[in-house]
Amino acid sequence: MAKILHVISSPRGEASNSIKLGNAIIDKIKEQHSEVAVTVRDLTKGPFPHLEEAHLNAFFTPVEQHTDENKEAIRHSNEAIKEIFDADILVIDAPMYNFGIPSTLKSWIDHIARAGITFRYTAEGPEGLIKGKKAYLAVTTGGVYSSGPMASADFVAPYLRAVLGFVGVTDVTVNRAEGFAMPDLQAEALQKGIDNITL
Ligand SMILES: Cc1cc2nc3c(=O)[nH]c(=O)nc-3n(C[C@H](O)[C@H](O)[C@H](O)COP(=O)(O)O)c2cc1C
Repeated sequence: MAKILHVISSPRGEASNSIKLGNAIIDKIKEQHSEVAVTVRDLTKGPFPHLEEAHLNAFFTPVEQHTDENKEAIRHSNEAIKEIFDADILVIDAPMYNFGIPSTLKSWIDHIARAGITFRYTAEGPEGLIKGKKAYLAVTTGGVYSSGPMASADFVAPYLRAVLGFVGVTDVTVNRAEGFAMPDLQAEALQKGIDNITL
């Protein structure tokens, strides 16, 4: 049984191209496995809070000393981290918002990057502690960033690769659908992205 965690960060529901691309990736994964279980974490419904003092206090207080306030503050983070450790495969949908990722996705990342839990520093440098996972990114953009004049602003996939790698998820495949805002490309953008999916 392959356990997939599908992380959604577009609030556009059935109209969302990143969700459609993410679902198409999952359909392809299903062709490779006799049994697949999908858990959906929709970050637009019940978003993770921006990190406040209470969260940081909880992150940096040893578990055995946690107060009730610490326990409440760390609940989201523990839930999100458990979902990742429970999964074999992560499918992360990431529409580009103002050259970066949606803030809901950034908040989720802020809750899963936890010193001592998902990464640690050793004498040799940082070590990611989420081992043995495969991740697929479904990156969708209004412009084109995989090549051409906007390639220097291709921040979404490199950022996600870096931060996932930092917590140990180093096996990351990027799939893209691009050009949703470009008159010549928009009609075919999704289908082209789906046709080009690599696992
Ligand atoms: C708030 C917002 C900001 C956006 N910023 C960018 C951007 O900086 N660059 C870009 O190429 N497209 C941008 N887009 C277009 C989206 O990346 C594109 O339409 C994407 O497919 C949306 O994903 P969705 O259909 O899953 O919601 C933006 C869209 C929105 C709604």
